Amino acid sequence: MLRRPRRNRKSAVIREMVEETRLSTKDFIFPLFLIDGINQQVEVNSMPGIYRYSLDLMLQEVETCMELGIRSFDIFPAYPDNKKDRFATESHRPETFYLKAIHSLKQRFPEAVIMTDVAMDPYSSDGHDGLVQDGKILNDETLEILGKMALAQAQAGADILGPSDMMDGRVGYIREVLDASGYTDVSIMSYTAKYASAFYGPFRDALDSAPKSGDKKTYQMDPANAREALIEAELDSSEGADFLMVKPALAYLDIIHLLREHTALPIAAYNVSGEYAMIKAAAERGWLDGERAMLESLLSIKRAGAQIILSYFAKEFALLTR
Ligand code: PBG
Repeated sequence: MLRRPRRNRKSAVIREMVEETRLSTKDFIFPLFLIDGINQQVEVNSMPGIYRYSLDLMLQEVETCMELGIRSFDIFPAYPDNKKDRFATESHRPETFYLKAIHSLKQRFPEAVIMTDVAMDPYSSDGHDGLVQDGKILNDETLEILGKMALAQAQAGADILGPSDMMDGRVGYIREVLDASGYTDVSIMSYTAKYASAFYGPFRDALDSAPKSGDKKTYQMDPANAREALIEAELDSSEGADFLMVKPALAYLDIIHLLREHTALPIAAYNVSGEYAMIKAAAERGWLDGERAMLESLLSIKRAGAQIILSYFAKEFALLTR
């Protein structure tokens, strides 16, 4: 036998020499959940090890993460029902706790990258990403609200805005609003191929943001479709997105790969709440080795073509590999 592939697996050093994909703490964006108040830290039931923090404790958490080498954070707010309305008015009120927190995070950690989420759901009494009227999600009317939200987040100091709403035309609309106000340096990481997925369940628990009626299938993509992701990618890049994101990650590795082949823009993937919860739940029962399952799934996301990974495992990964 002339060819024996096992020779390249014969020792740890050789295996590392031929390793094609390597994860680094620098690949990650760590999503964090923010709540109002002081000295609050509440674990998310369906996400063991993941907490909702009030700003004071979030500042401490970010400091710990920065020491571990995590430098990018995506902040999501959880609002009580009494702050929600049809128009997500709270999302662009300058004094709201989310915007004040973004400002404080940037003041305290100027070198960190702070990403925000642009969508109506945390502030909407309907629990939808867009404006609801007679059971329909209105597209163009939603853009105006998203524009106000995006501008408020840029004013608060966000480095990257993440439109996660899947309305048509929102990347271009937000880009124009930002540029018209002088925020030409604020980046957009578009949720380009965001699927109508069961894997967002634990996130909606964390934010108490599940739709009050209906589902998100008229705006989020059908899990059956791959080529449609190319249409979204083409639009988002022509509308000025700086990064394209695929979400969820693990059930959509083919989509990550597809976009990677079709664009020169950096590809991000969101390893979502349900993907985290599955591994944690099985590990808690002793049904699989949680650490190895985490590393293997994160590696698969990078191997598929994502150079940026949003993951609730970011801190655990950093702790494990420091
Ligand atoms: C909402 C939003 C969702 C997530 C990020 N932004 C949920 C949804 O679309 O219902 C999900 C993230 C996760 O599951 O970890 N705009």
